[in-house]
Amino acid sequence: MNDNYPKQNLFEGKLVRLTAEDPKSLVEANIRWGQNSAFGRLLDDEPLRLWSAKKIKEWIDKELEREPLEPSFSIRTVADDRLIGFIGAWGLSWAHGDTFFGIGIGEEDLWGKGYGTEALQLFLRYAFCEMNLRRVSLNVFGYNPRAIRSYEKCGFKIEGRQRQALLRDGQRWDMIYMGILREEWENTA
Ligand SMILES: CC(C)(COP(=O)(O)OP(=O)(O)OC[C@H]1O[C@@H](n2cnc3c(N)ncnc32)[C@H](O)[C@@H]1OP(=O)(O)O)[C@@H](O)C(=O)NCCC(=O)NCCS
Repeated sequence: MNDNYPKQNLFEGKLVRLTAEDPKSLVEANIRWGQNSAFGRLLDDEPLRLWSAKKIKEWIDKELEREPLEPSFSIRTVADDRLIGFIGAWGLSWAHGDTFFGIGIGEEDLWGKGYGTEALQLFLRYAFCEMNLRRVSLNVFGYNPRAIRSYEKCGFKIEGRQRQALLRDGQRWDMIYMGILREEWENTA
């Protein structure tokens, strides 16, 4: 058995753990994170919008009420149980054993400190050990080198580029597609 296979709690890392989503703390965090345009621009290529606390609460309540087809988690620090971000699957195909995912560390002071990378490593372990997927996919904006580097550290490879698909501040950027196969993940340990 490869070192990546879980011997301990599947959801628990050294810096972060993946937890269930708690509506109250998610609303508070999303109100704060939603004000950070740098964060928003890394996650969304649509023009940014600002939402009222009421709308954010309605959106989160609705999201948490429905039976989710795709697993999603809050990311919390092991040290002080602080809610710092989210990670979740989207575009899941059971037929082909593949899923896309989204990740965001909303607390900007924690970018570049390994919290997101470890959360993604936990998510990959979940995707390959619990969901028994064949591969995991993502897309990332060409102007997000921190994310690209984090994904490469987790074993993802660039598989394609939609050239000059994005326009930000007068500059064109590629949409980058990356993926990791099960056997590549097994070899990242
Ligand atoms: C992207 C994200 C998940 C990465 O997690 P993280 O814990 O911050 O990443 P890490 O600290 O482990 O690693 C970041 C790497 O990028 C490198 N990096 C940071 N800024 C960089 C830059 N401008 N150019 C090149 N590399 C950069 C760091 O040096 C580090 O690499 P190293 O460990 O080899 O030195 C997290 O930063 C995040 O959520 N950011 C905001 C939202 C976002 O971008 N989401 C992803 C959308 S696709």
